[in-house]
Amino acid sequence: MKGESELTVAGLAHDLNNVFSTLSEVADVLSTDTKWTKLASTIRRSVKRGERIVDSLADSIAESGDLGEILDNAVQHTDDVLTFTKGGSLAHKRTIDGAIALPGSSAAWERVFVNLFLNAAQASPDGVEVEVNASASDSAIMIAVSDNGPGIAASILPSVFEADVTTKRSRGRRGLGLHIVHAIVNDHGGVVTAENRESRGAVFTLRLPRP
Ligand SMILES: Nc1ncnc2c1ncn2[C@@H]1O[C@H](COP(=O)(O)OP(=O)(O)O)[C@@H](O)[C@H]1O
Ligand SMILES: [Mg+2]
Repeated sequence: MKGESELTVAGLAHDLNNVFSTLSEVADVLSTDTKWTKLASTIRRSVKRGERIVDSLADSIAESGDLGEILDNAVQHTDDVLTFTKGGSLAHKRTIDGAIALPGSSAAWERVFVNLFLNAAQASPDGVEVEVNASASDSAIMIAVSDNGPGIAASILPSVFEADVTTKRSRGRRGLGLHIVHAIVNDHGGVVTAENRESRGAVFTLRLPRP
């Protein structure tokens, strides 16, 4: 059972991580103008400092989180970023086979899904639909996040989880999202793969041991 102070710390960490992500996106937008690159770097450094503080707090309260709730938060957070950056909101649907709890920090998992959702939205200027399908056996959890966008460029597909691999032109720091996704999934003993679907779009498959 969680004590009241633990819930407060978890909530705080969650809200602060949302604030940090929004600030990072703002810094990315600012850094496209040479006038503001220095300010953007300062914002990014402050965000990094804040993230380190929150991480050390969050590490002290490992928890299991409900996948449906984590996805709700991730969609809401994605919409917040989209409203500010390119407008619109994320069209999505999901099929979750029963209640699935993810091991470890919910804030980390939310980060995973926000990265996947934002990438799908950013790859498709004319709009995209994201689909999440999840199922669990006694020992494993499988989550597939697919979209109907243009798919991942063949030239980067083999190295898409490596740091600094990107097709985006913005001068801001790019190519870290999937690297972070990969690191979080690995930290939880899981595996993530990226493919293009035969029809249209990309699919990211996460396989995790069940807690
Ligand atoms: N759903 C997707 N559809 C098409 N391309 C994608 C998708 N997700 C990722 N990518 C490609 O992978 C690259 C790396 O993604 P990421 O690591 O999040 O870095 P960034 O988004 O900063 O470029 C993107 O630049 C894009 O080319
Ligand atoms: Mg990204």
